[in-house]
Amino acid sequence: MNEIKLRKIGPAEVEDLKKISEQTFSEAFAAANTEQNMNWYFETAYAVEQLRFELMDLNSEFYFAELNERVIGFLKLNSGMAQTELQEENGLEIQRIYVLNEFHGKKVGQLLFEKALDIARLKGAAYVWLGVWEHNPKAIRFYEKNGFVAFDEHTFRFGDEDQRDIMMKLVLD
Ligand SMILES: CC(C)(COP(=O)(O)OP(=O)(O)OC[C@H]1O[C@@H](n2cnc3c(N)ncnc32)[C@H](O)[C@@H]1OP(=O)(O)O)[C@@H](O)C(=O)NCCC(=O)NCCS
Repeated sequence: MNEIKLRKIGPAEVEDLKKISEQTFSEAFAAANTEQNMNWYFETAYAVEQLRFELMDLNSEFYFAELNERVIGFLKLNSGMAQTELQEENGLEIQRIYVLNEFHGKKVGQLLFEKALDIARLKGAAYVWLGVWEHNPKAIRFYEKNGFVAFDEHTFRFGDEDQRDIMMKLVLD
């Protein structure tokens, strides 16, 4: 495969972010959720105004993974008060790490994850954490392979359903 490039993006790229966010989320979760709940998610979490707001937040960072200038995955990191939980100054949250299905198993996720680790070290974070849906074994395996350990769980409201997220943490040296 040609070289995959990672690039930090800004508010001007909100439409491209919406597109890759919706496609990867559909590929990952449409089969296991109702169409109604999927649409609810797109209209709230992935609304253009919401994404633009997040892109402008100084405590959030988004990166695209690109192959031949095509966006094939993305990463969203949160620090400080932008973290969806905990919100400790020495923590960094990987809120989203998503790769198009056709590129799974080609280490694109690994590249994005290593970017997250670089940023965590640059910021002097003591740990990286994330929440992952209990019915997402592929992602859980991916995080375990990278040294994450479950430390808690929380309930995540997804449309008209309560879903369980496993919270995982990687303590940095
Ligand atoms: C989790 C995710 C980011 C991992 O990214 P990735 O680029 O597939 O990561 P890797 O290339 O390191 O592969 C991970 C594993 O997929 C498996 N794999 C190999 N070939 C594969 C293929 N063709 N298709 C799917 N999985 C494959 C391998 O077991 C590999 O593990 P290994 O390194 O021990 O061999 C990616 O699967 C993804 O985007 N999933 C959907 C979105 C999601 O669930 N995100 C996380 C939300 S919390």
